[in-house]
Amino acid sequence: MKTKSIILSAGLISLLIFAGCKEKPSDSNASTAVQAEKTTASAPTDELAKRVLAMGLKPIPTDPEELRKLTEDVNNTFSEEKIELGKKLYFDPRLSQSSLISCNTCHNLALGGVDGVEAAIGDKWTANPHHLNSPTVYNSVFNKSQFWDGRSPHLEDQAEGPMQASPEMASSKTLIEQRVVSIPAYVEEFKKAYGDDVKITFELIARTIGLFERTLVTPSRFDDFLNGDSNALTAEEKEGLKLFADKGCTACHTGIALGGDMQSFDAQGIYKYKDVGDFTGNANKMVKTPTLRNIEETAPYYHNGKVWTLKEAIQEMGRVQLNTQISDEDAAKIETFLKSLTGRKPAVTYPVLPASTQKTPQPIVK
Ligand code: HEC
Ligand code: HEC
Repeated sequence: MKTKSIILSAGLISLLIFAGCKEKPSDSNASTAVQAEKTTASAPTDELAKRVLAMGLKPIPTDPEELRKLTEDVNNTFSEEKIELGKKLYFDPRLSQSSLISCNTCHNLALGGVDGVEAAIGDKWTANPHHLNSPTVYNSVFNKSQFWDGRSPHLEDQAEGPMQASPEMASSKTLIEQRVVSIPAYVEEFKKAYGDDVKITFELIARTIGLFERTLVTPSRFDDFLNGDSNALTAEEKEGLKLFADKGCTACHTGIALGGDMQSFDAQGIYKYKDVGDFTGNANKMVKTPTLRNIEETAPYYHNGKVWTLKEAIQEMGRVQLNTQISDEDAAKIETFLKSLTGRKPAVTYPVLPASTQKTPQPIVK
């Protein structure tokens, strides 16, 4: 009963969990999914696929073992219990001081992993003071670093930031530990995930959330195309992909994430909404290239969320990054390709969270 109720997904997450297990998966859907995914991968014969692979674009692997190696935290390997616990914490607003804001408030898994507003809104309806837009959490495991200025090396470290940041969840390490430890069902789940001697610290809470985020990968028809299915993209999408490569977009939007690396953000021209907010990149004026996966779901665009359409985002990229004017027609074709990056989301069942107790510190809403 327990194992059934905590299965997150018949597809991807099960793939990740079971990839490392010796025993046969107990969930029949999971084993079908493993086999289904395995049979689809083969070396591409399509010339365009070969060309963009040679340019550095990479598919999400179909082999569950390969995917696990790419996404797993070597210091905290996947297990069903840890992933389920991480999911609960991700959705639990009691990690914020007000008990109203969870990670999912700004990185809504039903909305492409974002909030859809220009600048993130957190505690006490406070907008991000630098007018920064919430990046998506889907596929963030493939980023080489996290945050717009790349200041965090991985998801586990990143998760510590928003819980404590005053315009976001505005909590403190102590308050978060007290809230979690005051809930016996959570203590039980930590024991199941990490053993009876587990010490429930703020760092372990963040780490468990990070582990859940590592499962949020979304293979798309573009991956199917690079994995050998020449018909996975339409003729129009292939034309758009060709333009994407010809124009030089792949110089920065490359690898599995089609981004995820630090780049200069006005290589060839000045970004037209540069003055909204005070973000100027890291110490070397570099900004993290956002992933283009699920881009049709993650408007508004750019670090300050000032660009609302893909057409404008593409044309502004041409001007700012490539010193080239992209026609309306070409932008439309590139946009058609970009929409093929909308991926199959892991089925995340909305968790029922364990009840607070008399000992749970009450919401702070003043
Ligand atoms: C109030 C809205 C808000 C909340 C709540 C919030 N975030 Fe974020 N998140 C943001 C913003 C804004 C950024 C970008 C900030 C920056 O770059 O300095 C961000 C960045 C990130 C990134 C980096 C992604 C990338 O591409 O660089 C990850 C991962 C992330 N958040 C996960 C989380 C997790 C996990 C939680 C819960 C513990 C959380 N966030 C809570 C708004 C929020
Ligand atoms: C020199 C590196 C570079 C090149 C070349 C480049 N980009 Fe970008 N791209 C970036 C960076 C960096 C950002 C983030 C800019 C910001 O937020 O201020 C970005 C942002 C974007 C966004 C918005 C993503 C989001 O989530 O906000 C889109 C869409 C995009 N690029 C598409 C393209 C297309 C299409 C091309 C080719 C015409 C291209 N890029 C060429 C580096 C590059």
